[in-house]
Amino acid sequence: MNALIVYDSKFGNTEKIAKAIAEKLSSYGQAKTVLADKADPQELGNTDILIIGSPTQAWRPTEPVQSFIKNIPEETLKGMHIAGFDTRFRKTRLLTGSAARIITKRLEKKGAGTIIPPESFFVSGMEGPLIEGEEKRASEWAEMIAEKKIK
Ligand SMILES: Cc1cc2nc3c(=O)[nH]c(=O)nc-3n(C[C@H](O)[C@H](O)[C@H](O)COP(=O)(O)O)c2cc1C
Repeated sequence: MNALIVYDSKFGNTEKIAKAIAEKLSSYGQAKTVLADKADPQELGNTDILIIGSPTQAWRPTEPVQSFIKNIPEETLKGMHIAGFDTRFRKTRLLTGSAARIITKRLEKKGAGTIIPPESFFVSGMEGPLIEGEEKRASEWAEMIAEKKIK
């Protein structure tokens, strides 16, 4: 398995989730994290699972994440396994929105296949911190991805 985790993070919380995911996945194969504005959407190489995460800001992913997704060629995404996650407030999704759902929908629209439903990890305030246990939950989510992938 060769996993690439592309993420954005203003205050560091989404980054912690991205790293927890990568750490778990690295016990199954290669797993690399890269910031969305440093990632090259034309160069996904031999990635076979692309995981994209963003803070939810104004109900949607941040600009670098949106533009990364927009610039991935459709040929690259055809048949690629993807998963989306976000961080946001722990309130009803109708109030908070969810970047992960938008990420997933946009990638599906471009031909990718979702391997696991979008997931949200929660912060207790605008700048964090993550609610206790969220990094562990991210690690478990990653484990589910790995298990689906190697089946
Ligand atoms: C400009 C801005 C807009 C935000 N809008 C939302 C929102 O619509 N829904 C939500 O749940 N949280 C919102 N938040 C809180 C962020 O989700 C929170 O800052 C983020 O999860 C922290 O992750 P980070 O440390 O990786 O940036 C917003 C935060 C900022 C700075």
